[in-house]
Amino acid sequence: MLYKSINEENIEILVRKFYPEVLKDTLLAPFFIEKLGEDIQSPLWEEHLVLISQFWQFVALGYDDYTGNPLAPHFHISGLTPEAFSAWLKLFHTTVDEVYIASIGEYFKEKSTNIAQNFMRKLDLY
Ligand code: HEM
Repeated sequence: MLYKSINEENIEILVRKFYPEVLKDTLLAPFFIEKLGEDIQSPLWEEHLVLISQFWQFVALGYDDYTGNPLAPHFHISGLTPEAFSAWLKLFHTTVDEVYIASIGEYFKEKSTNIAQNFMRKLDLY
């Protein structure tokens, strides 16, 4: 079943579907394993999944639980490339299509693409 609207619960479903796929992706997994380890059940990963859910709830629903700096940790990830960002976006968009109907999916695709471009510009990845 695809969700027809965005809420707190289905954002969490999206996030908890996306990162296991990230860990299966040969290009993306090493970046995450280096910082968070390979066990998605670990407390460190759980913290990340909660944080990312809060981030998207802030972006899409205006919730104020997320008070972090989304860009900052990416300055400390070595070896990031435009290709890695393309792979991240492609996988995120595939996951979005597995969770939401097309019109809602479009929203997440546009947002994520804009944020990724912003990150890449600030990380000097062009
Ligand atoms: C190739 C692309 C990307 C890679 C490899 C990557 C990797 C990571 C890693 C490893 C962390 C955890 C860092 C740590 O705890 O030390 C992180 C945090 C985070 N990422 Fe990414 N990321 C990518 C793209 C994105 C994009 C496009 C977004 C948003 C649309 C995003 C949103 C976030 C947020 C919100 C955090 C948490 C920031 C905080 O600490 O508050 N990331 N990322």
